[in-house]
Amino acid sequence: MTAAHTAAYLQCIEGSCRARYDVDGKFYTCPRCGGLLDVAYEFGLDDRNIDSVKAMFAERKSSSLPIDRSGVWRFRELLPFVSDTTKAVTLAEGNTALYDAPRSADYARLARLTLKHQGLNPTGSFKDNGMTTGVTQAVALGASTVACASTGNTSASMAAYAARAGMRAVVFIPAGQIAYGKLSQSLEYGATVVEIEGNFDDAMRIVRELADETDLYLLNSINPFRLEGQKAIAIEMMEQLDWKPPDWVVVPGGNLGNSSAIGKAFKEMFDLGFIDRMPRIAIIQAEGSAPFYDLYSSGDRTVFRPVSKPATLATAIKIGNPVSWKKALRAIEWSRGVVEKVSESEIGDAKAVIGRDGIGCEPASAATLAGIKRLVEAGTIGEQEWVIAILTGNLLKDPDYTMNYHSGRLALDGHAITGRFANKPLRAAADKDTIRRLLEL
Ligand SMILES: Cc1ncc(COP(=O)(O)O)c(C=O)c1O
Ligand SMILES: [Zn+2]
Repeated sequence: MTAAHTAAYLQCIEGSCRARYDVDGKFYTCPRCGGLLDVAYEFGLDDRNIDSVKAMFAERKSSSLPIDRSGVWRFRELLPFVSDTTKAVTLAEGNTALYDAPRSADYARLARLTLKHQGLNPTGSFKDNGMTTGVTQAVALGASTVACASTGNTSASMAAYAARAGMRAVVFIPAGQIAYGKLSQSLEYGATVVEIEGNFDDAMRIVRELADETDLYLLNSINPFRLEGQKAIAIEMMEQLDWKPPDWVVVPGGNLGNSSAIGKAFKEMFDLGFIDRMPRIAIIQAEGSAPFYDLYSSGDRTVFRPVSKPATLATAIKIGNPVSWKKALRAIEWSRGVVEKVSESEIGDAKAVIGRDGIGCEPASAATLAGIKRLVEAGTIGEQEWVIAILTGNLLKDPDYTMNYHSGRLALDGHAITGRFANKPLRAAADKDTIRRLLEL
């Protein structure tokens, strides 16, 4: 099977519409009904081919071609929308480690917990998986300027990939609500940064309107080509596990693009015969920013109610009106998944525990462990079940949060958040004996 044998098209996800479009159209939602779009394929694969495709994925790890060094493009037969992959804009993204996390497992009362650390990507978050495909599509369409609204990681990633492609990047961020690690990346990679006096949802609304009215090419996760790359998180995970799915895969939920992409990947791998069952997906939101949890828990899952003033120190998931909620709901239904929400102190403590495993992550990523703990306590996840949590961003993205947690200064809207695992620096005179006493040496 090669990409040339595979027809790719855009398809509206609305059951009442299902309209199809060519992949070279520049639109982000269905022109007929306004629904979200999938990149869909006629894969042209039969069961006899699957083992040879898996073997080909493995062989590429020893190749020196840039597309083979990429943990996204290495799986290009499962995202075959580009006719010329030699033009892919890649930074050797993906290729992220799986870690056993015994302290985190104990904390959640699980026999075993594995962490897939997307924070090991070139710009430090999972967004690189999707940005390599999104920017590659922007190049294929002849775009000269790319744009996004962002809570920080999308913009850092887009700025880097746009720089690689020699394109202009314009990012819209909520003023004063972005971790410095992320904002500084966008500046360094040369993007034009517009700080909007509003929240993420305001920035998203404005950039969508601008993308409709101007030549800006929108690279938020409403762009279905972004999500194709993020599928590789699940594909690579399955390859690392010799194509044996865990019981659960747990992700934080903000704009809900990542959970949508991972759900689509597992569904496609299952339908094609790469895996023999779907893992269950759990999406975790922060309590003050949990519209998808509210939808999941409500009687009527067709009526989505945005949260107008989302509040959480996990700024990456501070999103009240997530664009991809319908796709995420589909992922939950396909996988018999669940949605949970967690408090600020649960996020902070879980983050510190992940740190004690010698791994570390940013606050939004730690919502996974906090959610797993809750789901085990509730009996939804069994103690013996095998769980993989996706750590979406690197510890170094948000050092202010980490310092505030460990020095007891974490607060949201004036309310102190106390941490059970705070690890304050010690202060001592420059005197050896004093320090020996202090350290009980
Ligand atoms: C570190 C991190 N985790 C989680 C998320 C949420 O992902 P999504 O918006 O795809 O739900 C984001 C989004 O910006 C993020 O940066
Ligand atoms: Zn439609």
